[in-house]
Order: sequence, then C-alpha cells, then structure tokens
Amino acid sequence: MKAVSIDKITPAEEVAITEIPVPEVKSGWVLVKVKAFGMNHSEQILRLLEIKADYIQKPIVPGIECVGEIADPSDTDFQKGQKVIALMGGMGRSFNGSYAEYALLPAHHVFAIDSDLPWERLAAVPETYFTAWGSLFECLHLQPNDTLLIRGATCALGYAAIQIAKALGCKVIATTHRESKLPLISNADEAVIDDGTLAGKVKVTKALELVGAKSIRDTLRCMVRGGIVCHTGLLGGVYTLDGFDPIKEIPNGVYLTGFFSNYPTQQTVDEIFAFLNEHKLEPCFGECFDFEHIREACIALDSGKVNGKIVVKMP
Ligand SMILES: NC(=O)c1ccc[n+]([C@@H]2O[C@H](COP(=O)([O-])OP(=O)(O)OC[C@H]3O[C@@H](n4cnc5c(N)ncnc54)[C@H](OP(=O)(O)O)[C@@H]3O)[C@@H](O)[C@H]2O)c1
Repeated sequence: MKAVSIDKITPAEEVAITEIPVPEVKSGWVLVKVKAFGMNHSEQILRLLEIKADYIQKPIVPGIECVGEIADPSDTDFQKGQKVIALMGGMGRSFNGSYAEYALLPAHHVFAIDSDLPWERLAAVPETYFTAWGSLFECLHLQPNDTLLIRGATCALGYAAIQIAKALGCKVIATTHRESKLPLISNADEAVIDDGTLAGKVKVTKALELVGAKSIRDTLRCMVRGGIVCHTGLLGGVYTLDGFDPIKEIPNGVYLTGFFSNYPTQQTVDEIFAFLNEHKLEPCFGECFDFEHIREACIALDSGKVNGKIVVKMP
C-alpha cells in the first residue's frame, strides 16, 4: 500500500510516499481503509523533533486521526464496510497512523459513525470536533445562556468551537492577534483583537483558552464569579505556567480546567454527530489535498498559512 513512513527528522519538503505492506490484522485491532484524514500540529512536531524520542515507534506512519471504512473487523464487533472515525490513543506515535491507504488500529479507538457527509468534510471532525466538544461540554459545561470567550479563535479548533457554541445559542466573543483575520471570526457575536490584555475589556462566564499559558493569567481575570476557563490550546508557544500562584492568580470563585483529547468514546462521538445533524452544521475545513500531494499538505501545515483544518483525501 502507499504510505508515508519516516524514521528520522523529516522536513515537509522531504516527505515522500513509499510502498509498505498492508498490515496484518490481530485480535482486538481492526483494519481501516483510510478515506481521508485531518492534519495536526502534533504531526509537524513528530516529523521535526519528536521522531528522535525513544517512545516513538520507528519507522512510523504519522497521522493521529482518520475517517474510513472497516476493511477487516478481525474478532471485534465492527462490520466490514462500516463507516468509522479513529483518533489518538498512540496513533501515529506508538503504532502506525493515518498517512496510508490502510491503518491497523485498536478497536477501542475506532468509532462507528452514521453520516452522509463527504469524506473530506468528515475528515475535519475527529480530532478537532472531539477536542472542541470535550472542552466546551465536558470541561466548560457550556449552556445556551453562557457568554463564551474563545481566545486564539483563528485556528481549526477555534472555528469549530465558534460554530458549536453559536448553534447552541451562546454569545461568543472570539479573538485573534491579527487584525487581518477579524473577518474569519465574524460569525462570532464579537470579533476582538487580542493585544495580550483582555481583562477589564471583556467579562464572560466561560473561556476556551487556545493561546495557552501565554495568556491564561489574563483570561482568568476576564471571568465572572463562578466562571470556568478551559486550557486546551498552546498556540502562544508557552507550555507551562512557571511560577504560577493559584491562590493569587485564580480569582475567588473562578474555576480552571484543561482538556486532553486522548480519551475519545463512542458516546461522545455519537453526541457530536447528533449535534451536527440536528443543527445542520457542515464541519469546517481550510484546504483539501489529494494524498499524492501529501508533501504539499505538510508544507502547508508547517507554513501555518491555511486558515482552518487541512484535510487529505485518499484516491
Ligand atoms: N488539548 C488537546 O487535546 C488538543 C487537541 C488538539 C489541538 N490542541 C491545540 O489546540 C491549538 C489549536 O489547534 P488547531 O489544530 O486548531 O490549530 P491550527 O488550525 O493548526 O491553527 C494554527 C494557527 O493558529 C493561529 N493562531 C491563533 N492565535 C494564535 C496565537 N495567539 N499565537 C500563535 N498562533 C495563533 C495561527 O495563525 P495566525 O497567527 O495567523 O492567527 C496558526 O496558523 C494548538 O495549540 C493545538 O496544539 C490541543
């Protein structure tokens, strides 16, 4: 089968398609015919840095998510031909991922779906919508009467979160650090330039922090009493809260939580698709590449210039 397989630091320009054997099924794992997949910043990190780490299987087929059909259910309850999505759980790191015609995946990280969306639209869903959903509902307990701040909204996750929160009926304040990108978040109720200080300018009940540790102290000061901040993104490039003093820096009665997308469930996947269907939402993506152009897709990912999810479609 055609696949991308790497065993050393691989700049996007050196990404190439090779031939490797179709994986053999084993108990508890299913063979998925990959129809399309979304791309993620973590795959860029894998190619450029993480590939050197001992815990990465080498060679490795990158790709932490995909959509496709069951080609061989092995001894699981899946049916041949069933439509599925898969994400995380070591995919593209501990075992081969989605940059391939077939992926052998642990059944507990593969989820049945019932959707007529085209494959490239479906491919925008698994990681991005699961993370948006988990952040908004599991962590922020989002309700229609909430005012939600989405900090760093000009990313795939931000666009998905605006779409979901607006469909729910929330008031959404979305931020970007680039004036030129304000039109991209104009479907929020307020599109705001983030100059690093929002405290004193906005007051909200819920906040989805996608810039991360760089701005979270300020976000905490944007909350009403009883408000919740969910730390999900790292766009600001600062990963830890050095010298963080919770007593002084979390205002009284404000809650801080975080979301990690490593634990998807069938129930959550069902809820996401039911919501998309009920509200007639088209999952949003930025650009679609054919698999034969995976190198260009990786270059686009590394450039950071695509507005929204990059998806790749198999022939
Ligand atoms: N917690 C989890 O489990 C989880 C899961 C998935 C993703 N994430 C994280 O969530 C974030 C969004 O992921 P994604 O896949 O949606 O990203 P993405 O679509 O690849 O977005 C990248 C874009 O974000 C924009 N951005 C917006 N605000 C920014 C800021 N303050 N600083 C730098 N860049 C900014 C940049 O464009 P401009 O600079 O031009 O605006 C950049 O091109 C990432 O940090 C990702 O690692 C976390």
